Amino acid sequence: MANLSLLLLSVLALSISLVFAADPSALQDFCVADPKGQVFVNGFACKNSKLVEANDFFFSGLHIAGNTTNLVGSKVTPVFATQLPGLNTLGISIARIDYAPWGLNPPHTHPRATKVLTLLDGTLEVGFVTSNPENRHFRKVLQKGDVFVFPVGLIHYQRNVGYGSAVAIAALSSQNPGVVIVANAVFGSNPKIDGNVLVKAFQLDNTTISYLESKF
Ligand SMILES: *[C@@H]1O[C@H](CO)[C@@H](O)[C@H](O)[C@H]1NC(C)=O
Ligand SMILES: *[C@@H]1O[C@H](CO)[C@@H](O)[C@H](O)[C@H]1NC(C)=O
Repeated sequence: MANLSLLLLSVLALSISLVFAADPSALQDFCVADPKGQVFVNGFACKNSKLVEANDFFFSGLHIAGNTTNLVGSKVTPVFATQLPGLNTLGISIARIDYAPWGLNPPHTHPRATKVLTLLDGTLEVGFVTSNPENRHFRKVLQKGDVFVFPVGLIHYQRNVGYGSAVAIAALSSQNPGVVIVANAVFGSNPKIDGNVLVKAFQLDNTTISYLESKF
C-alpha cells in the first residue's frame, strides 16, 4: 500500500510541469533605473534607494502632441524606463502616438511587450499579422474610445483614416518593450545585409533592392 502511494505520488509529481508565464515576483518595492550603473544586468541596475525621490516615479509631457511632420506622418512619444526610471523592473510602460491625416505607424513589432492601444481621438485603421504558417491578418477600424490589443512579438501597424489628426495612448507590458520597424531593420541595417540575401528573400531584382536600401 505504501509502495502504491509512493508510485502515485511520483506519477503525479512527474505530470505537473511548472510553467512560469510572467516575470518572477519583485523582491523589493522598486528598482529605480540607474542609467550610470556599472553592473551589467538584464535591464538597468537599481539606483541607491536612499537617493530615490518622487521625481524618479514621474514624467511630464504626454499632453504635448508629437511632431508628425516626417515621412510617415506619425510620432511616438515613449514613456519607458529610459524616460521614467521608476518603471524599471515593473514590466509596464506607456506611450503617446500622434497621427497626421493619413499618417502611418509603419509595420513593426515589440519583441518584449503586448500593446493595448486606446484611441483618444480620430479614426484609426489597425492590424496585426500572426506567425507562420497562417500569417493571418486581423484588421479593424477604431473610433474614439475604442481599445485594441496587439499580442507580443507580432507585426502590427496603425493608419489614420479619418479627416483630422488622431491621437492614441499605448500601454505596453514591459518597461523596455523594444521596437523593430520591419523596413528599417531589413533595408536599413548597419552594416547592410548582403544584397543577394534580400534579392532572394523578397524575389526582387538587384536594382529594386538597392533602391529600397537607399530609402532606409
Ligand atoms: C516639426 O518637424 C519638422 C521637420 O523636422 C520641423 O521642420 C518643424 O519645425 C517641427 N515643428 C515643430 C513645431 O517643432
Ligand atoms: C547590385 O549590383 C551592383 C553591381 O554588381 C552592386 O554594386 C550593388 O551592391 C548590388 N546591390 C545589391 C542590393 O546587391
